[in-house]
Amino acid sequence: MATDQDQARIAELRRLINHHNHRYYVLDSPEISDTRYDALFRELQDLESAHPGLVIPDSPTQRVGAPPLDEFGTVAHREPLLSLAKAFSLTEFVAWQKRAERLLNGQTFDMVCELKMDGLAVALTYEDGRLVTGATRGDGYQGEDVTLNLRTVRSIPLALPPEGRFPHRFEVRGEVFLTKAGFKRLNEERAAQGLPLFANPRNAGAGSVRQLDSRITASRPLDIHIYGLGWAEGGDIPSTHWETLYMLRSLGFKLSYHSARVETAEDVEVFYRRWLEGRDELPYEADGVVVKVDSLALQVELGTVAREPRWAVAYKFPAVQATTQLLDIGINVGRTGSLNPYAILEPVSVGGVTIRQAALHNEEDIRRKDIRIGDTVIVQRAGEVIPEVVGPVVSLRTGREREFLVPSRCSACGTPVVRPEGEVMSRCPNAACPAQALERLRHFVGRGAMDIDRVGTKLCQALFEAGLVKDVAHFYLLTKENFLTLERMADKSAEKVLTSIRRSKGRPLSRLLFALGILHVGEEVADVLAAHFGNMDGLMWASQEELSAIPSIGPKIAGSVAAFFREVGNRSIIDKLRLAGVSMEQPKAGTAAKLQLSGLEIVITGQLESMTRVQAEVRVRELGGAVGSGVTRRTTHVVAGANPGSKVERARTLGTTVIGEEEFIRLMEESR
Ligand code: IVH
Repeated sequence: MATDQDQARIAELRRLINHHNHRYYVLDSPEISDTRYDALFRELQDLESAHPGLVIPDSPTQRVGAPPLDEFGTVAHREPLLSLAKAFSLTEFVAWQKRAERLLNGQTFDMVCELKMDGLAVALTYEDGRLVTGATRGDGYQGEDVTLNLRTVRSIPLALPPEGRFPHRFEVRGEVFLTKAGFKRLNEERAAQGLPLFANPRNAGAGSVRQLDSRITASRPLDIHIYGLGWAEGGDIPSTHWETLYMLRSLGFKLSYHSARVETAEDVEVFYRRWLEGRDELPYEADGVVVKVDSLALQVELGTVAREPRWAVAYKFPAVQATTQLLDIGINVGRTGSLNPYAILEPVSVGGVTIRQAALHNEEDIRRKDIRIGDTVIVQRAGEVIPEVVGPVVSLRTGREREFLVPSRCSACGTPVVRPEGEVMSRCPNAACPAQALERLRHFVGRGAMDIDRVGTKLCQALFEAGLVKDVAHFYLLTKENFLTLERMADKSAEKVLTSIRRSKGRPLSRLLFALGILHVGEEVADVLAAHFGNMDGLMWASQEELSAIPSIGPKIAGSVAAFFREVGNRSIIDKLRLAGVSMEQPKAGTAAKLQLSGLEIVITGQLESMTRVQAEVRVRELGGAVGSGVTRRTTHVVAGANPGSKVERARTLGTTVIGEEEFIRLMEESR
């Protein structure tokens, strides 16, 4: 028999654990350590197993999932779960706003902007403060009863605070999702177990909620954001959507922190742009912004048409994923001889850009993801990076797909390829391979390297094919006459190209080192080497041991640098560059440019006016500073251009200095 004392302790433990769950899962702000929490949890588990009669379904110990079902029951939605009209541009958004105003006889209205989460829509019904049903959207009128599964999601309250004021029965709606980190973790676990991977967090989240065995759901790191009230009876509700959100938050529901009440289309655009740029920093996937009419009375007046409410619109971010056919796998020979496979795709539009090719990383990756030629594949484009193949849609296989076989010979020169042990790709070992040579030229003239304006891929190829440029030193031997032999090259443009080439001679040693394309020498390593030696000669004669002794230069880099300079061909290229007048020096502190930014770590966000982001980053490195991609405690300055995004906010939270473009330029110029 349980004593009164046991019963009281059980009640107290449940209250405490619910409180700490809310702090941890909903507010992201725990008050006690994990160990302390685990101790409370275990104490409750022990008491409950000693007194099974006292276990109630709402006890925090019961979020573990129940034995599998044969199938889900169905739930008829009392109010349909509608979809949303979409806008793909500001013009389309304004058209939505104007139409709503017209329908309201010219009345304007406040709006609420929310992030559009990319997950699975669910409806949760509460009766007397207890979660009674959790359902998927289904066809909008009938959904699947996934109550058991949703009960395992820690950020969904099973019971509302007894002192809270809420209607007798009501339904909240929200989006269940996996965070990007949770998704990554889940896929890593699956890869380790040899299970097929999920293509994206959305599929993984939806798959997790629609599990017949809720113990599986319980093991997945699911989260929820509530975005509104479905219906309510037996109690008052606020008169605006904004206040409703407040009420729901005060009842312990988890809502996004990033909602805003706004007045004008300009405000909406600012919100939209902020998150379009900042979406990569969100811990979860968002695919747009939902804009809602704030007044619930006006919402009713506007009503619904077809299956969409007229009082809300989804202002979508450009899509980042699409599916298409993998027609073939091609091979690019990189500048270091690596055989880089790439996907040749049935053209598909991803976020307004037509994609015909996508990265496939390496052979190992193709094998691991089991990508086969002929597969329907998911392609993804994120920000500025090259589109990539995420994986195959296995369910759409016809049986005619074939496995990719790595060619045994280099596609450019026919040399048998090698795959060094422990490496994920094959390599063409022929240093004279023309494909490698061309890649080296392209790299040399590129941004961050010698940055030769007007000399791009096409011109490199033309010069290479005409036999005018065989190695990087030949760029500096070109004459106007040489250019005039090329197709479509007129007098004026030839002169301009020659000027750019000439200008590049003065680049600091760090750029030249990077441009040479030495294996394992990226921009940062090049900076370190140039700063350490100050000139090419010191570096060229340095032994591997000497190189290894430099802080931040490991044995792999040291070995590769030493090997590069041992090679006679490479030495002769450097001699030719020197003769052509290419600088072999790193400007020193105190002379042309002091390393004014050394010791600083700078994060650049938003668009700058007077330079591109890459140019700015290169400048920072040239001045001895480090460039960070995210704002951390090490960041000393955040440079905010136009439409800066959430990095500035993070900087403010951390108390990091935020400067504008002008101040940034001043900071760099003080170094002269
Ligand atoms: S409101 C009638 N707000 O988007 C309006 N929906 O196309 C009901 N979604 O699957 C939706 N985030 O689950 C609303 N902040 C948000 C949302 C959101 C994501 C989903 C919703 C539904 C789809 C509607």
